[in-house]
Amino acid sequence: MVKIGSKIIDTTVFVAPLAGCSDLSFRLTCREYGAKFCFFEMIDANSLIYNRIRSLRIIRTIEEDSPIAGQLLGRDPQIMLEAALKLLEQVNISFLDVNCACPVKKVVKKKSGAYLVNDIEALSKLIKKLSGSLPVPVTVKLRVGYLEKNKRQITDAAKACEDSGASALFVHGRTKTQMYSGDVDYSLIRAVKEAVSIPIFGSGNVFTPQLAKKMFDETNCDGVIVARGALGRPWMPKHIADYMEGKNIETIDMKERKEALKKHLVYFRKYKEVKDSIKVGFMRKIAIWYLRDFAECARARGAICRISSYEELLSLINSLPG
Ligand SMILES: Cc1cc2nc3c(=O)[nH]c(=O)nc-3n(C[C@H](O)[C@H](O)[C@H](O)COP(=O)(O)O)c2cc1C
Repeated sequence: MVKIGSKIIDTTVFVAPLAGCSDLSFRLTCREYGAKFCFFEMIDANSLIYNRIRSLRIIRTIEEDSPIAGQLLGRDPQIMLEAALKLLEQVNISFLDVNCACPVKKVVKKKSGAYLVNDIEALSKLIKKLSGSLPVPVTVKLRVGYLEKNKRQITDAAKACEDSGASALFVHGRTKTQMYSGDVDYSLIRAVKEAVSIPIFGSGNVFTPQLAKKMFDETNCDGVIVARGALGRPWMPKHIADYMEGKNIETIDMKERKEALKKHLVYFRKYKEVKDSIKVGFMRKIAIWYLRDFAECARARGAICRISSYEELLSLINSLPG
């Protein structure tokens, strides 16, 4: 359990925001395997205000997809506030997260995302405006530095967020320059934890229950977010929570993996609103997440790349061992 502002959340293991991956079908599959809290994918504030179809699709949800957090990307306090209010009109979120971690070139060029740890004045203004105006808690997702690891920069940014009204921080232990690879700096996440008194969630290489425990042990964080570790492993958030409570972790065999993949594809077909021409590509991507680490997996992945319909994919899955 963790308290974020006024909200009590019944787990310390959250499913991370993953643009292009953590859609409704992914979240429902994770929830079916025991995940208790998820994020929407990030939503660009401007895009939401102007009703762009992509952002409206991102916020598609159903009753079972709850509790959930929203995440906005942007810099201008007024635009972010308008987008947040629009989001709150349409969906029931436990809190609103501000993405100050996105390392993508076109985002940082606009001085949004990860750039904001560089610009404490703009960051403070933004968080103050949102936390002072919204009826839900506001949180911030940060990285441990911009061009390089920088203890002073990240702890100052974290304190500025707290002073401006943020109710929790999600800290990815890599810099903007590192993108998604390279070492995770646990000591800098720990430095953030020591600098503020709001809850801190660690992010980075939370791929297994053991690596999640390492995150808790080395950073003293209040919770973790599971990102790539949940792709094709929808049971991972529950396995982590169980492991942290000292419970036994069930082994997932190939048969169960195939079942999970089929469930995910059923949700995908039911809920994903994308053009038919790109549906097959998406389904291949989902299948590849699940079909890793077994004998013959390279051959199965090769075959997945050649399928051209759901039916073909299904018969391929059924033909695999297990
Ligand atoms: C494909 C992909 C999409 C992501 N999308 C988002 C996003 O929308 N918002 C966000 O804050 N972080 C996003 N992230 C970052 C993750 O939430 C997480 O912080 C990062 O992957 C580190 O965790 P991991 O090493 O356990 O995967 C994304 C990461 C990946 C790989």
